[in-house]
Amino acid sequence: MSEVPLFTPFKIKSKTLRNRIVLSPMCQYKALDGFISEWHLQHYSRFAFSGLGAAFIEATGVSPEGRIGHGCTGIWDENHIEGLSKIVKTFKEYNCISGIQLAHAGRKASFLRPWDGASPITKKDGNEPAWQTIGPSPIPINDSSPIPKEMTINDIEKVKSDFKKAAQRADKSGFEVIEIHGAHGYLLHSFFSPISNKRNDKYGGSFDNRIRFALETIAEVKSVWPENKPIFFRLSSIDTPGEGATIEDNVNLAKALKFAGVDVIDCSSGGITGSPVLTKSKIIPGFQVPYSEKIKNEANISSMAVGAIINPDQANDIILNKRADLVALGRELLADTQWVYKAATYFNLDNAKSFLPDSYSFYLSRRDDFLDRSAKPA
Ligand SMILES: Cc1cc2nc3c(=O)[nH]c(=O)nc-3n(C[C@H](O)[C@H](O)[C@H](O)COP(=O)(O)O)c2cc1C
Repeated sequence: MSEVPLFTPFKIKSKTLRNRIVLSPMCQYKALDGFISEWHLQHYSRFAFSGLGAAFIEATGVSPEGRIGHGCTGIWDENHIEGLSKIVKTFKEYNCISGIQLAHAGRKASFLRPWDGASPITKKDGNEPAWQTIGPSPIPINDSSPIPKEMTINDIEKVKSDFKKAAQRADKSGFEVIEIHGAHGYLLHSFFSPISNKRNDKYGGSFDNRIRFALETIAEVKSVWPENKPIFFRLSSIDTPGEGATIEDNVNLAKALKFAGVDVIDCSSGGITGSPVLTKSKIIPGFQVPYSEKIKNEANISSMAVGAIINPDQANDIILNKRADLVALGRELLADTQWVYKAATYFNLDNAKSFLPDSYSFYLSRRDDFLDRSAKPA
């Protein structure tokens, strides 16, 4: 049969993803002091044998104060490596490229878990206390959010060094890819966005000044992250319609990131004024794909599309029409961990069962030998 673009391998640096389908990073809020829990081992192993090209572990704090909330995973301590490397081992066992998203939540840190309200922790939230958030300028997300501390140059240097050490630990844990979280209103994005950055020093004002923190962070990461391992960067392709950073600004950011050594741009959007996921407005399938297409073609860099990518034809068309090099799925994979196998079956791929673990594929093949699907059910 003819080639299905979604199922062609994707080579980037020394890594080859067996197909174009990637697990998008998704916080579980089930960690304790940054340490992964039994939940993470079970949750990620389900995706390890999902047939994915690659999978990203959730936004993982480069420092305790860089977490979104108390349940976030962390990578600020050498002792975090042991748990993280267990997840990596499972991914490797099933031929899934392992990735981790390194994050600092900035002024959107110190938040309650989504199911507890996804709002800033207050003094009333007792044994899980709030902490002082930081940002480019003392501008809160909204009227009910605390004012972040304006970061000094020392604070900026500390965060850059935290990202560097986090990248070192990610490498020690065995991760093959890292993604730097520069989207959704978190720290790096908040420096880029003119909505949240009103600084007068070399980190604020002009476009070049507002991208400086991200570029310097990448330089720190690159000083320790192996040259042959890829770096992804997630950005918010637009801030909010009619306000803040535009898609054109983000095309220019992507060009600068490429020059700085980023390999793939993961094209999300929004979040500078609230949650990009817990939105009240309607979204349509593939709503962020036009951003990925523009960034890929105008910045001439590999891109990953994400956001309401639901069915195999939709995903395949994105790759076929060169609107992205990779597709990241989040919630659809939560709903259906064997999405890849089902998509491969839908496209009649001879190797569809190779996207299942042996012990599953054996029994499904046996059933296929005997099952008459055209017969009327008894
Ligand atoms: C439970 C949940 C947790 C998420 N956590 C993260 C995260 O850690 N980092 C991130 O960049 N995006 C995060 N997101 C956003 C997803 O990665 C993805 O971009 C978004 O859900 C849109 O894709 P989807 O429609 O396929 O779910 C999260 C989304 C969900 C639903």
